[in-house]
Amino acid sequence: MAQQVQGVIAPGKNEPVRVETIVIPDPGPGEAVVKIQACGVCHTDLHYKQGGISDDFPFLLGHEAAGTVESVGDGVTDVEPGDFVVLNWRAVCGRCRACLRGRPWYCFDTHNATRRMTLLDGTELSPALGIGAFAEKTLVAAGQCTKVDPEVSPAVAGLLGCGVMAGIGAAVNTGQVGRGDSVAVIGCGGVGDAAVVGARLAGAAKIIAVDIDDRKLETAKTMGATHTVNSRSTDPVEAIRALTGGNGADVVIEAVGHPETYKQAFYARDLAGTVVLVGVPTPEMRLELPLIDVFGRGGSLKSSWYGDCLPSRDFPMLIDLHQQGRIDLGAFVTETIGLGDIEQAFARMHEGDVLRSVVVL
Ligand SMILES: NC(=O)c1ccc[n+]([C@@H]2O[C@H](COP(=O)([O-])OP(=O)(O)OC[C@H]3O[C@@H](n4cnc5c(N)ncnc54)[C@H](O)[C@@H]3O)[C@@H](O)[C@H]2O)c1
Ligand SMILES: [Zn+2]
Ligand SMILES: [Zn+2]
Repeated sequence: MAQQVQGVIAPGKNEPVRVETIVIPDPGPGEAVVKIQACGVCHTDLHYKQGGISDDFPFLLGHEAAGTVESVGDGVTDVEPGDFVVLNWRAVCGRCRACLRGRPWYCFDTHNATRRMTLLDGTELSPALGIGAFAEKTLVAAGQCTKVDPEVSPAVAGLLGCGVMAGIGAAVNTGQVGRGDSVAVIGCGGVGDAAVVGARLAGAAKIIAVDIDDRKLETAKTMGATHTVNSRSTDPVEAIRALTGGNGADVVIEAVGHPETYKQAFYARDLAGTVVLVGVPTPEMRLELPLIDVFGRGGSLKSSWYGDCLPSRDFPMLIDLHQQGRIDLGAFVTETIGLGDIEQAFARMHEGDVLRSVVVL
């Protein structure tokens, strides 16, 4: 039986989000309904509201979530009702050419639920990143549910569902930061700070945090940054070179999603170094670089989809590290809020007041 719950939708481009009644169908084959316990507010939710991701309004926002499986459809064997899960937005297919080549974190055919959640009048909703978890319940593909230890708080576990995983993975998986490396992170919000945590975990010797907001730089220090640069007052390329013997960092992680900061990352890395783009640009953005510099500086320019993670491998591992006290995921939760507070949370994100506001249900 379809059920009605409360959820937060973005009705149209730049229109304020609002709480609406959402109709959740029963799970179809390979699908699961999950009772949401916590969902973080990510910058990507704001991109959706602003029309920066697609025009498929209305969106059911929220995608950084943890909860309990309520029911599953036919053929679901990996999770069952009662399981505590973190939702992921890249359920790997196991059959595409990336999966068959043994690189499932690149899966080219990730999937979501095919049944649609709707408004009461039947309008179909587009769930953000195929999740839609600013809601009491949501419908996902069962492969989007990763079982983790229920002892960890939902607010903390949910963070792994997007920003924290994207940032840690950008450093550890995509950037392949190694012991002794120098790393710079441009943009120290939830994602950038998680990249700082990942770089520290991987044994980086020097971690340079760059932001335009001193408060963000202070927080980045508590996450493991060894040096900070305010790029509003200081040229970040010069500053990063000065801090690395005049050379530039081995790995530079761009966690803003803007051509200007990408160029900074490009020139702030050492010869043959690595740039990792984890920030998400909007469709109209363009990058112009002298091709001779792309060639002459060598190295690799990589993008990081969801930290190139494998949820089944990485979520339980990071929860273990958190529980052992080797990383502090709780430090990312600035405040807990209700479903009605998303607009204010966007405003606070915009003002730079928070790392993560987390909706707790
Ligand atoms: N690749 C992925 O899989 C993935 C996953 C989640 C989020 N993202 C993207 O990562 C980016 C960051 O997300 P977030 O949730 O951390 O956002 P956020 O708003 O919390 O953080 C952005 C940070 O960048 C800083 N900043 C803004 N302009 C800057 C500039 N010119 N120079 C230096 N710093 C600047 C801000 O002060 C802020 O600290 C977004 O683009 C988001 O869409 C990507
Ligand atoms: Zn695949
Ligand atoms: Zn996100």
